[in-house]
Amino acid sequence: MTRINENFLKLKAGYLFPEIARRVNAFCEASPEAKVIRLGIGDVTEPLPPAIVAAMHSAVDEMASAESFRGYGPEQGYAFLREKIASVDYGERGIDISADEIFVSDGSKCDTGNILDIFGSDNVVAVTDPVYPVYVDTNVMAGRTGEADSSGRYEGLVYLPVTAENSFTPALPEQHVDLIYLCYPNNPTGTVATRETLKQWVDYALAEDAVILFDAAYEAYITDPEIPHSIYEIEGARRCAIEFRSFSKNAGFTGTRCALTVVPKDVTGTSSTGERTPLHQLWNRRHSTKFNGVPYIVQRGAEAAYSTEGRQQIRDLVDFYLTNARLLREGLEAVGITVYGGVNAPYVWLKAPEGLSSWDFFDQLLQQAHLVGTPGSGFGASGEGYFRLSAFNSRANVEEAVTRLQRSFS
Ligand code: MLT
Repeated sequence: MTRINENFLKLKAGYLFPEIARRVNAFCEASPEAKVIRLGIGDVTEPLPPAIVAAMHSAVDEMASAESFRGYGPEQGYAFLREKIASVDYGERGIDISADEIFVSDGSKCDTGNILDIFGSDNVVAVTDPVYPVYVDTNVMAGRTGEADSSGRYEGLVYLPVTAENSFTPALPEQHVDLIYLCYPNNPTGTVATRETLKQWVDYALAEDAVILFDAAYEAYITDPEIPHSIYEIEGARRCAIEFRSFSKNAGFTGTRCALTVVPKDVTGTSSTGERTPLHQLWNRRHSTKFNGVPYIVQRGAEAAYSTEGRQQIRDLVDFYLTNARLLREGLEAVGITVYGGVNAPYVWLKAPEGLSSWDFFDQLLQQAHLVGTPGSGFGASGEGYFRLSAFNSRANVEEAVTRLQRSFS
């Protein structure tokens, strides 16, 4: 008899985005004439930038010749890409991260889940609420939680509410925690953390000997020059933080797959006998055992994101989605709806109409306006009553969505 990992049985419903897809597919089958606009999952719609496409074509040609063919690459990523990341993403901001502290991977979703392999199962974990569901579900799967209560909160996790009432700024935990997930610019609320807020977290982590798992997948969307792009802009973060970044949302790699995780050599954890061990050593071991590296062709594409043309093309792409976010925000504000986010992030966060739950509003928008968003409650109990709209779509669809939203709210 083969026993299953029973922690999976604790998971609530399906993963959020497949559940949305299920409802949308059912609606489309029942109403095939409806022109549904999808502002649900944050999936890019615009083609890869030309500089990236050209680099990938030329890498394909290299693979076609015996002289330049490549087999297995370094699990951690090719030096040509790691060095670019270190010098451009970090060096140009005056941040000291070396190429060998960067691990190239196939996605931040995977890495934020996989990172749990290197941490003991008795760590106390804090998440904001609402939160990107992967952080919670992977902890449930790994057995770090008890059962969920009726609001969907799991026993054993420390939830830090982020709502309009606290300006979407989580309070520091009232108890000791060992691992803290932070995501800025934030998914799902589209809000950002100031330097002062991040400093409080770094100071907390250093004082409590905790580790911050900092998801910066949306950093390219920061428009406010005062907002930090990296946790390592904060003094002391090299000793207490791991950072995740991605090419998905800036360079359009959601289908192409390339991301990176930074594990500074100074960040450590403790064994049961009290010995300090660098997390870099553990992650390197984990990564090279369970992962065989991102395809060469994809890494050459990612490298091109750092060329002069590549950087400009990525800027243009991000600006395109930011304009969509502005249209959504302004369109809703024009009919008196209070919206959050959408200035330094590709997500707009709003309150569902009075008296409607997040899923009620989801169903209403789908049925009446043929629009798909993401119910706030799918990101956590404190997201109940909120709704997320993604700015990742064509301009024409976003303009049409604004018209339909305005009609729904009038
Ligand atoms: C989202 O919609 O929250 C994201 O697209 C999910 C992801 O990046 O995995």
